[in-house]
Amino acid sequence: MPEAAPPSLPGAPWLERQERELEEAPARLVAALGLKPGQRVGDVGAGSGYLTWRMARAVGPTGRVYANDIQPEMIAILKTNLAVRGITNVVPVLGTPTDPGLPDNSLDLILLVDVYHECDHPWEMARRMTDALKPGGRLVFVEYRGEERWIPIKPLHKMTAAQVRREMALHPRLEFTENLTNLPRQHILVFRRKAVDGPAGTAEGSAPSTAPAPAASAVADPRAP
Ligand SMILES: C[S@@+](CC[C@H](N)C(=O)[O-])C[C@H]1O[C@@H](n2cnc3c(N)ncnc32)[C@H](O)[C@@H]1O
Repeated sequence: MPEAAPPSLPGAPWLERQERELEEAPARLVAALGLKPGQRVGDVGAGSGYLTWRMARAVGPTGRVYANDIQPEMIAILKTNLAVRGITNVVPVLGTPTDPGLPDNSLDLILLVDVYHECDHPWEMARRMTDALKPGGRLVFVEYRGEERWIPIKPLHKMTAAQVRREMALHPRLEFTENLTNLPRQHILVFRRKAVDGPAGTAEGSAPSTAPAPAASAVADPRAP
């Protein structure tokens, strides 16, 4: 019997491209997060699992990574990519555009790499991600730096630190902690769920995003022009 072909999806090869090591320094990113063995963390919009398996190694066999995406095909690719590496401490989660489907009050950290700008419902997503964090847990956005024109990514796929901070200011349970801009091209913007919660949000319904959201169903090549 021939082996079943691995699942494929347009966009998945882009996420696994070799140049990404140089452009995004994923090992440096994961080191900057300071993950500890035993932690429970989320990778929202995990795609093919490019960051998931690195986070899974960082939290170790006693830890757990919830790897979420809204595309079932991506989840299938992610499972294959984890299996070939022998990673067993990941829970794949198929989310919706408004809800990542993560357990409430339970995660130490949630990471989104090149995802938040793609969300069709960013306010709802941020609210539900905040629900999933433990008090003191961190919500981390990694986005191509919109302030720097030399970075060869279309403006639609970049965000400024001010944009992300403005959008998170709509969530009173979150506070900005730091911008670890030690990556070649991306911000690492860290927010924390306050130890004592305020109200869950400013309004029911979706607050307008400052970043226009492209369709999330495909990962297109975001390089400029
Ligand atoms: C550019 S890819 C990044 C994938 C991965 N984070 C990485 O760095 O390799 C964006 C991913 O976000 C997913 N996505 C978009 N909107 C989403 C949402 N509301 N919830 C979960 N995933 C979403 C897409 O399906 C896609 O897999």
